[in-house]
Amino acid sequence: MRLVIRVGGSVIASPPNPDLMLRYAELIKELRGRGHEVAVVVGGGGLAREFIELARSLGLSEQEQDELAISISRVFAQALSMKIGGYQWRKVPTTIEEAAKILRDRGIVIMGGIRPGMTTDTVAALMASEIGADLIVKATDQEGIYTKDPRKYSDARKLDEISFNDLEKILAEDRHRAGIHQIIDPEATRILREKRIKTIVVNGFNPENILLAISGVRIGTIIQ
Ligand code: UTP
Repeated sequence: MRLVIRVGGSVIASPPNPDLMLRYAELIKELRGRGHEVAVVVGGGGLAREFIELARSLGLSEQEQDELAISISRVFAQALSMKIGGYQWRKVPTTIEEAAKILRDRGIVIMGGIRPGMTTDTVAALMASEIGADLIVKATDQEGIYTKDPRKYSDARKLDEISFNDLEKILAEDRHRAGIHQIIDPEATRILREKRIKTIVVNGFNPENILLAISGVRIGTIIQ
């Protein structure tokens, strides 16, 4: 299978979690060993948001705030990439085209953000569309997608399955703001719906969940 794994910064980077990053490095190698092609998109998590705050305090523009967040996501991508492939793999792609080429050459690519005004969910969606991915797995800090924000509402219910159309209705029409946190962003959802790319949202604190999702076990929330 051709896979895109979107690893939330909230999972590996808030705060930076070396144990979990090691487990992700093993997981990615394992998936490659099973013959899959694996594109990984990591976010910058809490550290990226701290830099967004810093940029705001410095009076920098939204675009500049995003640029800093992108840099942070790339540092996490670089660390993971070097752990998997060694020093040779220290270069993190900065465009979708570059990432697709690395994927063709190596069967694995690890990237962060690409340009201001989007989230890494959208990067994952664009990448999935570029490579014709069979599946995106989003590894996040929740068990899946809920009817409401589970951090705010105790009666929020986890959905086992949802259509892209229904998901678009749930997501508030939010203008992009640096550091915005939604379970999956509306722009990414639109791309995935248009391209009909199956997406599964799982709890990323247990990387095993990704293996389960890929092998067809019903886990997290399946969007299709
Ligand atoms: P994300 O919110 O996508 O990363 O990017 P994350 O930390 O993995 O988020 P969780 O774990 O899903 O919550 C962080 C910020 O980086 C900027 C945006 O400001 C975004 O909100 N960014 C990221 C870009 O501007 N462009 C990109 O291509 C990627």
